[in-house]
Amino acid sequence: MKKILISYWSGTGNTEAMAKRVAQGVTDVGGEAVLKKAAETTPALVREAAALAFGCPAMGAEVLEEAEMEPLIAGLGAAELGGKSLGLFGSYDWGDGQWMRDWVDRMKGLGAVVEDGGIIAHLEPDNDSLTKCYELGKRLVGKAEFAS
Ligand SMILES: Cc1cc2nc3c(=O)[nH]c(=O)nc-3n(C[C@H](O)[C@H](O)[C@H](O)COP(=O)(O)O)c2cc1C
Repeated sequence: MKKILISYWSGTGNTEAMAKRVAQGVTDVGGEAVLKKAAETTPALVREAAALAFGCPAMGAEVLEEAEMEPLIAGLGAAELGGKSLGLFGSYDWGDGQWMRDWVDRMKGLGAVVEDGGIIAHLEPDNDSLTKCYELGKRLVGKAEFAS
């Protein structure tokens, strides 16, 4: 079975709740979800996955969390991401989603095929954003079927 890697960083649990819902979508349609924190995620795990989802809240000033998620992303390139379906998600508070727009552009620049525009939730994810996460998980399984 093709693996779908869901890797996330979450300080207070909001993005973690989204990650778990993505994983639920994957498993509910028979996919193999590999749910990992950013600190446990290696480039090799990313390379082995047929499709991906990354989650991180807006931190700093509209950037990724800098100790664990930023180094993970900075260490990825075409070998890990090229042509792969990737969903992005995360929670925010006072901003307008700039961190997610920047992240989407960055991952496209690294060769990933970014699904939609990134799922964002204001603080604790509501039903609407959790449903989007669930649907993302289901869709990634379909995309993985066609991955080489
Ligand atoms: C150090 C720090 C920096 C933050 N920077 C931003 C920011 O730039 N823009 C924003 O919208 N929210 C910002 N937030 C709010 C978080 O994105 C928000 O609390 C989010 O729900 C945290 O998600 P989590 O529970 O997955 O950690 C920041 C929070 C912290 C603790």
